[in-house]
Amino acid sequence: MLKKAHLYLDKYFKIAKTDHRIYGSFIEHLGRAVYSGIYEPGHARADRNGFREDVMELIKELDVCVIRYPGGNFVSGYNWEDGIGPVAQRPTRLELAWRSIEQNEFGLNEFMSWVRKVGAAPMIAVNLGTRGIDAARNLIEYTNHPGGSYWSNLRKEHGYEKPHKIKTWCLGNEMDGPWQIGHKTAEEYGRLAAETAKAMRQVDSEIELVVCGSSNSKMPTFAEWEATVLSHTYEYVDYISMHEYLGNSEDDLANYLAETERVDEFIKAVIATCDYVKARKRSNKTIYLSFDEWNVWYHSNAQDRKVKPWSKAPALLEDIYNFEDALVVGLFLIILLKHADRVRLACLAQLVNVIAPIMTRRGGGAWKQTIYYPCYHASRYGRGIVLRPEIISPVYDTHQYKGVNLVEAIGVLSDNEREITIFAVNRSQDSPLVLDCSLNNLGEVELIEHIVLEHTDLKATNTEENPDNVKPHNQGRTMIKSNRVMSELPALSWNVVRLRIERA
Ligand code: AHR
Repeated sequence: MLKKAHLYLDKYFKIAKTDHRIYGSFIEHLGRAVYSGIYEPGHARADRNGFREDVMELIKELDVCVIRYPGGNFVSGYNWEDGIGPVAQRPTRLELAWRSIEQNEFGLNEFMSWVRKVGAAPMIAVNLGTRGIDAARNLIEYTNHPGGSYWSNLRKEHGYEKPHKIKTWCLGNEMDGPWQIGHKTAEEYGRLAAETAKAMRQVDSEIELVVCGSSNSKMPTFAEWEATVLSHTYEYVDYISMHEYLGNSEDDLANYLAETERVDEFIKAVIATCDYVKARKRSNKTIYLSFDEWNVWYHSNAQDRKVKPWSKAPALLEDIYNFEDALVVGLFLIILLKHADRVRLACLAQLVNVIAPIMTRRGGGAWKQTIYYPCYHASRYGRGIVLRPEIISPVYDTHQYKGVNLVEAIGVLSDNEREITIFAVNRSQDSPLVLDCSLNNLGEVELIEHIVLEHTDLKATNTEENPDNVKPHNQGRTMIKSNRVMSELPALSWNVVRLRIERA
C-alpha cells in the first residue's frame, strides 16, 4: 500500500483571487540578459528592432504578466538618460555593480517597445543609490507626462509621441545591502524613498510604488529595516519588496526541498511587520508584498568569480538548472499562491540567460531550462481563486527543518468556476505517495489531465543539443470517485492535476 497524504479543498474557503502579476519576471542589464538574450541585432531570428523572436515566443508561451527593469544592483549606478536618444550618441560606461562595460545600445524606449511586444506590463526601478528625487521625477516626466514640458517633449523628439504610462515603479533596489552602490541605513533610505515617492506622485498620481524591503530573510537588519522604512513611507507606497534565492550548495536534497518553509516564514514575518506599522499608524491602508526577486541561484557562483572584469555582456549568473531545481521552483510557486491575499506581484529573477528559465546562444538557438515548466504550468493554470488548503501529510526532518510535509499542495479554481487545478510536489525521495483530495462544494469533477515532471537523474539538465531531456508528460495517474480525487505522485515529482467541474 502506498503512503497517503490528504488535501481538503472547499469552494467557499478562499484565500484570494490571484493577481496575475505574481507571474512576473525580471530583465536586468546584467551579463547576457539583454545583449544576446532578448536583443541581438543581426541574429537570424531578430526582428527589425533587434529583438530575438525565438526568445519572445518562449516568453509569450510563459505568459509573463509583468517584467521588472533595468535592475537589480545595476540600477543603483545607472543614469537612465544614457539609454535614450540616438544610439550612436549614447555613452559607454563602466558598470560598477557587475563590473562590466555598458554600451547603452538598449535603453528605456527599447525596453518599452519590447515589453509591449511580449505582452507584459513594465515595472521600472529608479536609482536611489547614486541618484535620487531629481532623476526620478525627470524620468517619470519623460515616460508618463503627455507633453508640453522639457522631458515629455524630449520623449516625443525621440519618436515616442504617446506617453508610456508606466504604472508600477520600484523605489531603488536592495538598499539594505552593503554591496549596493549607495547603500543606506533604514532611516536614510526611508526618508529618501518617501520624498521620491511624493515627487513622483506629483508628476503622475496614478502610479503605484514598491519600497525596498530586505534583500533576503538572513539580513541582520531584517524586520527592523521593514518597520523603519515603512514608518517613513507607509502613506506613499503600495507594496514592500521581498527577495530570496535558494540553493543546494551542500548537496542535501532533503534540506534543499524544505527551504521553501523558510520562504513561507519570511512572507508571514513581512506581513506581520507591515501590519504592525499599520496598527501603529492607526491606518486603514494595507501594504501588499511584491516578491520581485525569487529563484534558485547558486550553480554559477564559482564560475562567476573567474569572469574578467570590464567585458561587454559577459556570461554571468548563467545557472544551468537541473531537475531538483525545478521541484524547488514548483514549491516556491505553491508558497506564493498560498499567500495570494498579500503577495500581489512576484518576479522570477530573472528571465533570459541570467538565472533564467530561458537560455540562448549568441548567434544560436533558445531553449527552456528545467525550471521553465513549473512556471509555465502555474502561469497557465494557476489563475483564479486560490482555495485554502488543509493538508495532512507524512512529514520528515532535516538538519534545519522539522516536521516538513512530504506533500506540498494548493488548489486554484478558475474564475468561471469550471476548472480546478491542484499543484502538488512530492518531496519523498523513496516512494510515490497518493494524494487523496476531498473537494467540497465543488460538485462532480472529471479529469482533464494529470501532468507530471519527474526524472530518474536528479541532476539532469536541458541543453541546446538536448532541450527535452527534462520535460513534463501528461500520463499521471489520477482516479476520481465522486468528490474524491486520488492522484499518485511519483517520488520527487511536480504534479498538475487539472479537473473539469461538471456540475456545481
Ligand atoms: O538578480 C540578481 C541580483 O540579485 C540583482 O541584481 C540583485 O537585486 C540581487 O541581489
